[in-house]
Amino acid sequence: MQITVTVNGEKYTRDVEPRLLLVHLLRNELGLTGTHWGCDTSNCGVCTVTLDGVPVKSCTVLAVMADGKSVGTVEGLERSDGLDPVQQGFIQCHGLQCGFCTPGMMITARALLDKNPDPSESEIREAISGQLCRCTGYENIVRSVRWAAEHPAKEGADA
Ligand code: FES
Ligand code: FES
Repeated sequence: MQITVTVNGEKYTRDVEPRLLLVHLLRNELGLTGTHWGCDTSNCGVCTVTLDGVPVKSCTVLAVMADGKSVGTVEGLERSDGLDPVQQGFIQCHGLQCGFCTPGMMITARALLDKNPDPSESEIREAISGQLCRCTGYENIVRSVRWAAEHPAKEGADA
């Protein structure tokens, strides 16, 4: 099937098998390997991207379901004026160790902050509850998201 998907603002048209998963379209066809693939059970959340602004596990979405839609991956997080505050927060607060879960965490955090710019710790924990990090106690991840909430990007610069 021929599909056209906008990823990080760029349009891609590809012929895909109907069974192809979005995570594999992104990684194998488009070379966007920042989106990870970490389980066969839809549990880990490392494959999380946004689909029309809503975080989804891209291992649970067929590529054909993204036809005509907009996908956001970690490669598109950086802004024209520098790192997204979420990326900066992960640096400032040491929100990552191995980094495997980090792209999905950051995508989920950005979607949360777009909806709720000043989330409480429990709202952050709830938002990232679909993402597993095997390395940390989530403490620094939550701090990183709070840091981003306290240091929003300047208005006017596009994401
Ligand atoms: S790869 Fe684990 S939830 Fe998608
Ligand atoms: S930083 Fe290692 S799994 Fe999250």
